[in-house]
Amino acid sequence: MKPVHIGLLGLGTVGGGTARVLKDNAVEIARRAGREIQVIHAAARGLGGQAPEGVEQARLTEDAFEVVRDPEVDIVVELIGGDSPARELVLEAIANGKHVVTANKALIAKHGNEIFAAAQEKGVVVAFEAAVAGGIPIIKAIREGLSANRIQWIAGIINGTGNFILTEMRDKGRDFDDVLKEAQQLGYAEADPTFDVEGIDAAHKLCILASIAFGVPLQFEKVYTEGISRIAPEDVTFAAELGYRIKHLGITRATGQGIEMRVHPTLIPEKRLIANVDGVMNAVLIMADKLGPSLYYGAGAGADPTASAVVADIIDVTRTLTADPYNRVPHLAFQPDRINDTPILAMDEVETAYYLRLSAEDKPGVMADITRIMGESGISIEAILQKEPARGETTANIILLTQRIREAQMNQALAEIGQLDAVSGEIARIRVESLGKD
Ligand code: HSE
Repeated sequence: MKPVHIGLLGLGTVGGGTARVLKDNAVEIARRAGREIQVIHAAARGLGGQAPEGVEQARLTEDAFEVVRDPEVDIVVELIGGDSPARELVLEAIANGKHVVTANKALIAKHGNEIFAAAQEKGVVVAFEAAVAGGIPIIKAIREGLSANRIQWIAGIINGTGNFILTEMRDKGRDFDDVLKEAQQLGYAEADPTFDVEGIDAAHKLCILASIAFGVPLQFEKVYTEGISRIAPEDVTFAAELGYRIKHLGITRATGQGIEMRVHPTLIPEKRLIANVDGVMNAVLIMADKLGPSLYYGAGAGADPTASAVVADIIDVTRTLTADPYNRVPHLAFQPDRINDTPILAMDEVETAYYLRLSAEDKPGVMADITRIMGESGISIEAILQKEPARGETTANIILLTQRIREAQMNQALAEIGQLDAVSGEIARIRVESLGKD
């Protein structure tokens, strides 16, 4: 059978890795795909006529639009990243009847609805396994492996850079900025590292997970997003004393009222497997009604692991080239005419437990005032830890763990506690999830 022709956009970390994997494993890949896969045209800036490994036989250009217009190209592999010109390139590739494979989470999260509609109309596939959790085949697991289940919730460590920072802070007491620099040097961090530390990268990935889990349109703008930059080293220590680890999680959950989509630092019991996922590794925990919990663990970033997912998509698309377009796995797991409009909950309506740390004067009645406000707001306290004031100081750290309560009620109670004369500074608040069956 005639080889499948790839047009590769981008030869950076992931693009270079993809070209290399296609070359290194060419024989095994052809055995799996049923035909040879050849990169025939590649676009990248600043190559100076030098062909990187894996694209020695390809035509090279600086103009990515040349590749998407090349009539010889069957599958366009977009590994440029970012919004624009990735969106324009992908839409033009689709208009030209080409299948697309992309690792671009921002593109899918923000423009996926438009892109999938265009692909559906043209009868082409847009595959995006590498957009979520790098090399872990999580899209395939949810879209195909779990398709008999109703998914109840998903909680994932889906940003390797953030997890690396939290792990190093906990284990080595290292400074936030210092660890971030190392993640950048290792090629894990986004071009703009605030995407990692402020949770935007995780929010892109989470909204994709929510759509394929619950069959709703992609709604990136509705993801509640909070980063890790305000986690103090003492919160990491106090959480450990209480038997918890702090992880930056993306959580999506189906409730009777709607769907939660949130990214924020979270205390989770240290005995959970996912609490022990350290460094740049990613993990996604899924609760499904028939399977129960299942955990998917692996490298969420890096050249070869991400290329592993990209190439798997290329093989998948190659296998479906001759299949009837109406009988392929749907882009968002559910048939396009069965995507529904279940509301996405505002963060105020979300219910979680909380870890709170506040600084209060060490004098009689303060604790009583705090617990009175909690009680009047309907908040039940699970545990209290009070630390003696440091030598020469008069304020003590008070740490509270609460039971589950609506975010709006917690906000109101915290506003009242913040008004107490004895309470000073900002009240640190980290949500707590048990990640158990209930
Ligand atoms: N910056 C991302 C991370 C890369 O650290 O996980 C993979 O999407």
